[in-house]
Amino acid sequence: MSRDIVICKDSAALSGRAADAIVDQAQAAIASRGRFTLALTGGSSPVETYKLLAQKPRMAQIDWQKTFVFMSDERCVPFDDDRSNFGQARSSFVGHVPLPPANILPIPTDAGSPDADAARYAQTLAHFFGALLDAAPPAFDLVLLGLGDDGHCASLFPGKPTLEETKKWVVSSPPGTLPPPVDRVTFTFPLINAARAVMFMVSGAKKAPAVQDILENAPPVSKRPSAGVHPANGALTWLLDEDAASMLSAQTRGR
Ligand code: 6PG
Repeated sequence: MSRDIVICKDSAALSGRAADAIVDQAQAAIASRGRFTLALTGGSSPVETYKLLAQKPRMAQIDWQKTFVFMSDERCVPFDDDRSNFGQARSSFVGHVPLPPANILPIPTDAGSPDADAARYAQTLAHFFGALLDAAPPAFDLVLLGLGDDGHCASLFPGKPTLEETKKWVVSSPPGTLPPPVDRVTFTFPLINAARAVMFMVSGAKKAPAVQDILENAPPVSKRPSAGVHPANGALTWLLDEDAASMLSAQTRGR
């Protein structure tokens, strides 16, 4: 695994940098494998990045016919609910770029229960990647993640059994302590860590303690779930703004 820490002067610069990185990954994946598989994150952090992807010049720099969009976690609410991660991605980005409908693969929230939603999404992934569910997880070209103040990512919350999952690719997850208090469906560590690239996008001073702890102290995954993200054969990037990076030592910042 390679790990890069990139510090941007503010959240606007971070959004531009993230959008550029997504364009670069899309172009590289399509050039080498003929398609780009992208797992989006929820939360507020990626919204400006998503909007930039749906505008010139970047919108024209991605071959949308060869791009396939997934979600790394979802809240179990209908897509038109304000709390829906896919709903947010659709209104800021996915609904505004020429992605063929068949290339948009959100986590379902209508299978009857969070467990059924998770099982159905795992089947969707297995079918898409031509893999068997009991085999090693497929490698996404890029998995985007946000960081919660408590150090969670996707819907992998501190102290929960979802952190121990070693086989399933997608699981249900009861609500964590941060809002909104709804059931979730989430990628597991085995699936995230199979990716070719994982990129955290983190802005704001309230994230600084978790960023510092994860990047400098190697905390237990049960305390700071994002410490469990280390793509075995992939590249890990932490894209931070100055506020989120404010507690990092000069050594961690690479200065
Ligand atoms: C979710 C997320 C979650 C999010 C972080 C950061 O469904 O809530 O996917 O992991 O990325 O909580 O959220 P913010 O960007 O809003 O701080």
